[in-house]
Amino acid sequence: MDASDKKRAAAKAALEIIQPGTSLGVGTGSTVNFLIEMLPAVRDMIDCIVSSSRASSVLLEEQGFTVSTLNEVGDFDLYIDGADESNKRLQLIKGGGGALTREKVLAAAARRFVCIADDSKLVGMLGSFPLPIEVLPMAQELVSRRMLKMRGRPIWREGFITDNGNHILDVHDLQIPNPIEMEARINRIPGVVTVGIFADRPADILLIGADEGVREIRI
Ligand code: 5RP
Repeated sequence: MDASDKKRAAAKAALEIIQPGTSLGVGTGSTVNFLIEMLPAVRDMIDCIVSSSRASSVLLEEQGFTVSTLNEVGDFDLYIDGADESNKRLQLIKGGGGALTREKVLAAAARRFVCIADDSKLVGMLGSFPLPIEVLPMAQELVSRRMLKMRGRPIWREGFITDNGNHILDVHDLQIPNPIEMEARINRIPGVVTVGIFADRPADILLIGADEGVREIRI
């Protein structure tokens, strides 16, 4: 099984969690794209949908879904999204696709957060994947200097503008033994819109596609 097969298997397992009357949040990325392809099969069970990015909204609309805003929907039942890394406590690094801010907002508003991923994403300690940070353009240099002080190696994501009109700083070489503390510390830097550590609000369920099938980890 290659990574795509594993992602597809995890997405299929998430589809089975959707119950009649579900208000659904849909994340962003290649794993979620498999989910979006499969969603028409459970169309009748979905009460309403919110999305974490323009890219996912376009794909959902292509499948014939109407995408609502979070302000219209309020708190909702189930958020399904991928991740770049997860530890066993289901604390995540997200934002490889640059949608981290809207993803964090949707995760906060969801009663249940199901993360779908292939088995390469499960790690002992977060930080091998460069940590994405969404930053106000005018604070680019300030945030970069602060991350250097924290012993990270910050690299700007060239030519990338988020759906919110901001920039992404990818911070390499960080070790994140205490994700809750690190999330709060980086969020306190003026100009940081969102850091891609999801530890204060981790996933509730992780569905991991692997050669032997889909493993479920709950906290
Ligand atoms: C986008 C994300 C994605 O969930 C993350 O990058 C995983 O992507 P993929 O499913 O393509 O591996 O956080 O901002």
